[in-house]
Amino acid sequence: MDKIIIKGGKPLSGMVNISGAKNAALPIIAACLLAGGWHRLKRIPQLRDIRTIKSIMSELGTDFREEDGELEVNSDNLKSYKAPYELVKTMRASILLLGPLLARCGKAKISLPGGCAIGARPVNLHLKALVAMGADIYLDHGYINAEANRLAGAEIFFDIPTVTGTENIMMAAVTARGRTVLRNAANEPEVGDLARMLRAMGADIEGDGTDTIVINGVDGLKACQHEIIPDRIEAGTFMIGAAITGGNIKIDGCQPGHLTSLIEKLRLAGAQIDTGDESIRIQGPAHIESVDIKTMPYPGFPTDLQAQFMSLMAVADGWSMIRETIFENRFIHVSELRRMGADIEINGSQALIKGKDRLFSAPVMATDLRASASLVLAGLVAEEGRTEVHRIYHLDRGYEAIEEKFRGLGATIWRERE
Ligand code: EPU
Repeated sequence: MDKIIIKGGKPLSGMVNISGAKNAALPIIAACLLAGGWHRLKRIPQLRDIRTIKSIMSELGTDFREEDGELEVNSDNLKSYKAPYELVKTMRASILLLGPLLARCGKAKISLPGGCAIGARPVNLHLKALVAMGADIYLDHGYINAEANRLAGAEIFFDIPTVTGTENIMMAAVTARGRTVLRNAANEPEVGDLARMLRAMGADIEGDGTDTIVINGVDGLKACQHEIIPDRIEAGTFMIGAAITGGNIKIDGCQPGHLTSLIEKLRLAGAQIDTGDESIRIQGPAHIESVDIKTMPYPGFPTDLQAQFMSLMAVADGWSMIRETIFENRFIHVSELRRMGADIEINGSQALIKGKDRLFSAPVMATDLRASASLVLAGLVAEEGRTEVHRIYHLDRGYEAIEEKFRGLGATIWRERE
């Protein structure tokens, strides 16, 4: 197992390029199950989660090849419709295979994802929607078993806007008989990216980017070419990195329009931010002002940047309040940040942070993906000695070459074997 070592205290400077979005790439690779032929996907990030979905799909019979940095995917010769426990337990997003497998094979058997570090994360809304579309679903020995000859369009209301739930049902509905209407659907940019890919395959989808998505089922789909959107959470993590170190960096190959809530909050914290078409220039403040945030579905403040923003507030002037409304247990980074000197009180879904003048380096443990990123950011400003972030396999799930990118921005950070 690897660990990351950081010697803090250097303002970030220079330029960083943003990779393709993990949470767009995962459903888009899954959607390649819907039609045979070679799909060609650009800007797929090199991440552990991407390797996991490829391993599961390889077991189903999907072929992959890499050419000129692009991923080609072919599902002509599917031989199985089962996603086994051993692989699904390492990545909850494997549930994204349920919709496309059911649509393509009429059957799917997916290990039921268990709870995870940040919350219970049930998939009841995915299953309820598939049942409304005529699927026969039963749970058996830890597996979701689903069957349907051909799914039928339906009116579906999501009690909570669910990102992977919306994506799963979109993929199930594209070849269903008739019209499916998804209400209170998620409108995250990653859902829109999947909709664009499905349209390139010949699907009839409207309304993505709003809370009502209408899908008219078509009889067949074809392989397509698609370029994944940039990762807004990776870009946001580097922006917070510039803010926390008082640095000045340019973030290239991103979509500033996907980051408006963070840009607003970082400006309130004192950062100077200029946006271009596909770039952001950010100059961190000399003194970080405290700012309250509340996580919300898009375009609200993303839960996936909450932990990183908390590291920033840990060194801000004064008090701030962070409310987490998406997941019930997404404050696991707090106890590690406290070990670095942060002053944070938790009361249910709220964290009250008293900004300190400084944080101190310490050995800390990553517990989930975004929590790990918050510890790396804290390490970039920590004084005296070196911060060691252990269990960084979480980080490798979702950040491409993070230590190399930070090193490119002048940070003293490297990876070592435990
Ligand atoms: N929920 C239910 N029932 C369901 C589905 C969701 O109660 O059937 C609840 C969840 O427990 C949660 C809320 O609805 O309280 C929203 O969860 P959602 O389903 O939107 O989350 P997700 O689709 O499982 C995706 C991202 C997460 C990101 C969330 C929220 C992917 C692969 N994952 O998860 O990304 O935090 O949306 O934006 O797209 C990450 O990248 O670190 C990450 C955790």
